[in-house]
Amino acid sequence: MKLAIHLSRGSFSDQWIAYCEKYDIPFKIVNCYHTNIVQKLQDCDALMWHHNHALPQDLLFAKQLLFSLEQAGKVVFPDFNTAWYFDDKLGQKYLFDAFELPVAKTNVFYSKKEAKDWVKTATYPMVFKLRRGAGSRNVRLIKNKNQARTIIKKAFGRGFRQYDAWGGIKENWRKLMLSKAMPIELMKAIAHLWVPITLEKAIGREKGYVYFQEFIPDNDFDIRVIVINKKAFAIKRSVRKNDFRASGSGFIQYEKHHFDDSIILTSFKIAKKIKTQCIAFDYVVKDKEHLILEVSYGFSKHGYYDCPGYWDEKLKWHEGPFNPYGWMIEDVLQKVNEQKKP
Ligand SMILES: Nc1ncnc2c1ncn2[C@@H]1O[C@H](COP(=O)(O)OP(=O)(O)O)[C@@H](O)[C@H]1O
Ligand SMILES: [Mg+2]
Repeated sequence: MKLAIHLSRGSFSDQWIAYCEKYDIPFKIVNCYHTNIVQKLQDCDALMWHHNHALPQDLLFAKQLLFSLEQAGKVVFPDFNTAWYFDDKLGQKYLFDAFELPVAKTNVFYSKKEAKDWVKTATYPMVFKLRRGAGSRNVRLIKNKNQARTIIKKAFGRGFRQYDAWGGIKENWRKLMLSKAMPIELMKAIAHLWVPITLEKAIGREKGYVYFQEFIPDNDFDIRVIVINKKAFAIKRSVRKNDFRASGSGFIQYEKHHFDDSIILTSFKIAKKIKTQCIAFDYVVKDKEHLILEVSYGFSKHGYYDCPGYWDEKLKWHEGPFNPYGWMIEDVLQKVNEQKKP
């Protein structure tokens, strides 16, 4: 038995490698960008690659490589059920609808006329999102019909930049004031008014559709629950000052009392239903019900080092440090072993 791990410093691969070394799990480091990658995996039972939605070269083929291998019978992380909708809020709309999940109601239009007709009778404020984006970057509040019309015009006209430069400046200024960013980062954000980010150079502008979501009021935080291999952990993120957006705010609370059993149970149930290896759910609350805003297999490790413990599937709390990256490895190992059974 041997695992292949794509090395990408700062990604989950750091922890995967450390875990394999600690527990003597045979592995080899591979470079998925190599044209002969498939041949190089011949002596391996599984491939693990924490691919990144913001890296153009990963976007080009990470899923295609992983899903091809999966289709041919190799165990991969993340697999199809885990990753096809990664950083794809359009894809997630259909996933949520198909599984009838509890969500903030979402409407997507692919024609200007339909969108314009719909916004006439829509309820305001509502939330506009781009298909891609993290840390609230591409999420905006639309206060009235006129704003919605302007958005529609742009969506079916020039389209949107992948990087909202003014939003970036505002966010870096906010972080600078909180001593959470350096002046150079603000300078870079200002430069992006003219200079496109790498992703923009690769995939161009976002257009041809418009995504509107019901605004769920009175949430001064969102809750993120991550489920991996039948275990769950959670964080609560407060919104920015004078803003409705929590993701990326940096204001995180970790204590167990913030999370009731029902949100953990719901997360376990959905993770099982859609057969994912790893999923982060972002929730807000409406009339005491938890509604999903989006899901993601990838997450930034730094936000979770301070989690004080985790829940198992029976909702038993396990206090103390834990290693979710090790859980990913264990999940892959279990699948490899299942495959090897006669
Ligand atoms: N429909 C909504 N109603 C209320 N708040 C929302 C809604 N959608 C998003 N938010 C807020 O905006 C933040 C970012 O939205 P999200 O869809 O999770 O995008 P991102 O991919 O940038 O994290 C969330 O953390 C939440 O606080
Ligand atoms: Mg989010």
